[in-house]
Amino acid sequence: SLRVAILLSGGGSNMVKLVESMTGDHPARPVLVMSNDPAAGGLDRARALGVPVAAVDHKPFRGDRPAFEEALNGPLAEAAPDIVCLAGFMRVLTAGFVSRWQGRMLNIHPSLLPKYRGLHTHARAIEAGETEAGCTVHEVTPELDEGPILGQARVPVLAGDTPDVLAARVLAREHELYPAVLERFARGNRAPLHLP
Ligand code: GAR
Repeated sequence: SLRVAILLSGGGSNMVKLVESMTGDHPARPVLVMSNDPAAGGLDRARALGVPVAAVDHKPFRGDRPAFEEALNGPLAEAAPDIVCLAGFMRVLTAGFVSRWQGRMLNIHPSLLPKYRGLHTHARAIEAGETEAGCTVHEVTPELDEGPILGQARVPVLAGDTPDVLAARVLAREHELYPAVLERFARGNRAPLHLP
């Protein structure tokens, strides 16, 4: 079966859903969960799920992204993944790093791309008066939050929503979307999946 590595920076709820989805006749299996934050809650959750973990703290690299990525690529290359899933990984990756994994690296982003690339997506969507928000899984290319869209799920923006309330509504859909897209991708299906 195909080998999947998952990169995260935080609590790792998407990672848990991805790992839990890879059972039965799933074409892939988790081989590594890695973080740029050694204290990320997602690492404990991965350990509890029996998935090997690694951490490469970005802080000692003091903004030297190529050096950080060289260190990051060590355990990653050793795990020899066929697919790399960014799941709440909050470091911008250079074109050099992306090109090593291009065509094999997915990301989930909490907006309906191409709208609201970058940070604070929910606050910006509310501020703009959007009536709809959502999440996108896409292939990672060198431009931030660009690359072919592999799937989207939509939610309404409701009167009185705060960014946190909207984020929780979107996150619940991320948990459906990402495992569905990963399984399709692992089976070679790159046609965009549109969940309601
Ligand atoms: C998710 O909402 C994900 O879409 C977002 O971070 C959260 C991670 O939650 N990713 C980004 O903002 C990427 N720029 P999780 O750690 O519980 O999966």
